[in-house]
Amino acid sequence: MAEPAIRLRKVHLTLGSGHSAVHVLKGVDLDVARGESVGIVGPSGSGKSTLLMVLAGLERADEGLVEIAGQALGSLSEDQLAAFRGRHIGIVFQSFHLIPNMTALENVAVPLELAGHRDAFARAEQELAAVGLGHRVTHYPGELSGGEQQRVALARALAPEPAILIADEPTGNLDGETGQQIADLLFAEQRRRAMTLVLVTHDKSLAARCGREVAVRSGEIGGGVAAPSRVSDLAGAAS
Ligand SMILES: Nc1ncnc2c1ncn2[C@@H]1O[C@H](COP(=O)(O)OP(=O)(O)OP(=O)(O)O)[C@@H](O)[C@H]1O
Ligand SMILES: [Mg+2]
Repeated sequence: MAEPAIRLRKVHLTLGSGHSAVHVLKGVDLDVARGESVGIVGPSGSGKSTLLMVLAGLERADEGLVEIAGQALGSLSEDQLAAFRGRHIGIVFQSFHLIPNMTALENVAVPLELAGHRDAFARAEQELAAVGLGHRVTHYPGELSGGEQQRVALARALAPEPAILIADEPTGNLDGETGQQIADLLFAEQRRRAMTLVLVTHDKSLAARCGREVAVRSGEIGGGVAAPSRVSDLAGAAS
């Protein structure tokens, strides 16, 4: 069998320190096949965004194995990790995260250029056209609607042709109809490019469009229903 796109084994992560330390991920196991789409659902605070950060190599696990496209992320240096991310992983956030003083075109092209693509601007223009924004390339984020800003963010994520696209509530800041359009675009691009897609959503209908749903509860996959335990509470109880 081909290696999975994503393989997590017994992943633990505590965020914060001292009194604000929270044991967020508590032994997460997850396999995602290449080309699969997975919708991660679960209550607020259960660790969904943190899980995505670990998958994207933006947070390092304290313990356990995080393997993306056959590469164990724990063995990479910070520079290697950043380069790996740039080559393999695209990320879309709920709040778009565009750079306000760059045009739509620059928002897509500049990261490509920094990654060494010589045809960055031409490619950025194509990607913006692909998400239906060919007529808005010189607009700044502040001059774009929420849905348009998310299209720019999607074009930026797709431009380096990542094998894995990670999306944290990509429709969370959009009205129903606009969210639906972004979701249509997301799944169309996922199929067209045969990407692996992992998205987090509170929207049941969006989760249901994924090939598979995975529930996160209290930092575990399909685990119990209690809120995440505060490490400081445990420390307090022990002292
Ligand atoms: N930097 C941090 N320091 C301490 N605790 C943190 C930190 N970041 C997140 N947490 C805690 O980790 C838990 C999980 O957070 P996370 O953002 O992953 O939840 P989520 O499932 O994405 O929630 P939501 O659906 O509200 O977005 C929360 O209880 C949160 O308070
Ligand atoms: Mg979240």
